[in-house]
Amino acid sequence: MTSDVKLLDINNVVIGIERRKRETLVLVREANFDVNYGEMVGIVGESGSGKTMICRSIIGTLQRRGAAVIGGEVLFEGLDLRTINEAKWKSLRGKVIGYVPQSALAGPNPVLTIEKQLAEALSQVEGTGSMKNRSKELLDLVKIRRVDTVMKQYPYQLSGGMRQRVMIACALASKPKLLIADEPTTGLDVTVQSQIMELLREIRRDLGTAIILISHDLALVDEVCDKIVVMHAGATVEVGPTSSMSKPRHPYTVALNSSRIDVAKPGGELLTIKGNPPSVGQWNPGCRFAERCDYVQQDCLVGDHPALSGKKGEHQSACLHADKIGKI
Ligand SMILES: Nc1ncnc2c1ncn2[C@@H]1O[C@H](COP(=O)(O)OP(=O)(O)OP(=O)(O)O)[C@@H](O)[C@H]1O
Ligand code: SF4
Ligand SMILES: [Mg+2]
Repeated sequence: MTSDVKLLDINNVVIGIERRKRETLVLVREANFDVNYGEMVGIVGESGSGKTMICRSIIGTLQRRGAAVIGGEVLFEGLDLRTINEAKWKSLRGKVIGYVPQSALAGPNPVLTIEKQLAEALSQVEGTGSMKNRSKELLDLVKIRRVDTVMKQYPYQLSGGMRQRVMIACALASKPKLLIADEPTTGLDVTVQSQIMELLREIRRDLGTAIILISHDLALVDEVCDKIVVMHAGATVEVGPTSSMSKPRHPYTVALNSSRIDVAKPGGELLTIKGNPPSVGQWNPGCRFAERCDYVQQDCLVGDHPALSGKKGEHQSACLHADKIGKI
């Protein structure tokens, strides 16, 4: 594959759902970002911002929610995923593209031992050696110790962090080129969170797997990702290399940065972002962040929600007044 073909290119993607009377409700508008081979990309945003919908557009499961990509392109190694049939999806989903779903902590099948879960994942792909040895290798890969004991256990006998490791092991069975981890640390305590982050970093380093990491937590993705995509109310509002996010160019990213626990002063008040994102379909004209924005001007309140400006692959913002950030 030539170096100018991205592993994944999300290009002006619009995701919608059909409502009564053939009316389409847009859930995600013009999402724009790309993922290079071996790159780790974080997608952050509050609940309902469209993070999981983007994941589903990459693994072809939007229709299970009655939704669809209705505009733009989802290009995987140059192949437009909107054009492929279910047989092709089956050769990509869970194989070339691994997925750890958002509810993965509850995910492992409760009635199967870990050995059986792993065998099921491994049975989908070719490999050499006995199933038992291949399962053990997978558990080694995700740094699970006492593998013989763990193989015989059921999910309820494992801690949350261990269950998450098992789900990641299942997703790695096919040695995917891209692993999508949708909020892999939600519900885990801080120590286990950082262990899972370290594991993802090692997987990327040792296997060269590109990773999309979804989170509410900017501090978390900031630590491990090369690039960050910030979403608000179904729109991509800022994208850039992680280093550029210390000088954000969108007021929402400024607010996310200010509310990080790791920047709060000891004993001081933990800042929160004022207001709430507008509900799906309840958009006012103009910028969807306007009601929450300290920088709002008259021109923000008219027309369409601003598009990302700047060159894809560089630091981009969807704010009309990005030049004023930090100056008021
Ligand atoms: N089947 C559906 N019908 C209508 N709206 C839906 C449907 N599925 C999702 N949505 C809406 O689409 C928006 C995006 O949902 P999505 O699950 O992608 O959010 P998210 O960013 O992953 O949130 P969270 O952080 O809570 O997981 C939300 O407002 C959600 O309510
Ligand atoms: S476009 Fe206007 S309202 Fe929107 S984020 Fe920028 S300054 Fe705020
Ligand atoms: Mg989600």
